[in-house]
Amino acid sequence: MKIKYTIICRLAAFIVALIVVGCRGEISSEDRKAASQGMKSQEVKKVNQADIFAAGLLRGRQIAEAAQLSLGKKLKETMLNEGVQEAIRYCNIQAYPLVDSLSKAYRASIKRVSLKLRNPDDAPDSLENVLLNAYQYSVDNDMALQDNIVSLNDKFLLYTKPILIGDPVCLICHGKKGSEVSDETFSLIKSLYPYDSATGYKMTDLRGMWSIRLSLKEIVNTIND
Ligand code: HEC
Repeated sequence: MKIKYTIICRLAAFIVALIVVGCRGEISSEDRKAASQGMKSQEVKKVNQADIFAAGLLRGRQIAEAAQLSLGKKLKETMLNEGVQEAIRYCNIQAYPLVDSLSKAYRASIKRVSLKLRNPDDAPDSLENVLLNAYQYSVDNDMALQDNIVSLNDKFLLYTKPILIGDPVCLICHGKKGSEVSDETFSLIKSLYPYDSATGYKMTDLRGMWSIRLSLKEIVNTIND
């Protein structure tokens, strides 16, 4: 009898334990959610400034490379197949939409800026101006050139990368007037860009920079993914 009683007791305890576990099981879906959110926010907290800057630098490099590739490829193709004049018209019409579509694809704001402008829309803002001048200083003093990432505010980072005259092809539209830039080419440029000051460049000169604004949230997501 005693034995039976003990067994029943154990059984009852087992059932109670099961119910408790079961209940826990039911609550746990919310618990789990809260826990995972807690864990996520902890993960986000664990990502430090250095991680964010490193990830931003990688992302910026990836975007600048894609932008440079697609603009450069189209430019060369057009020059080869349709000539310089058409390529200028192509740059005039297509450079912005192409960069804009890349901006959308990468959810970043992509710009080219310069101290000697062709398109007035590519004028630098005050921070870009400082960074461009810093790159120019490095070029003038034969110092190593490096891309950069800086914090804009608590929402955005700014990635910048110098653009050099790295290919003789550039000189056909940005080189010496009357020789490298033919009179015909120059008059078309002037008709499209009356205030153009983007000629007179030599090989390895600084032509401008990529300026890519990255969302901090996106960058943190790439780390947490
Ligand atoms: C066929 C002529 C042509 C060639 C070749 C060319 N460009 Fe340009 N470039 C232009 C035109 C036109 C614009 C203005 C585009 C616009 O309206 O957005 C421009 C604009 C730019 C800008 C943006 C800044 C500004 O002044 O508006 C940069 C940077 C630039 N070019 C760099 C280069 C580099 C580097 C090369 C060589 C790889 C090159 N370009 C070759 C015609 C050319």
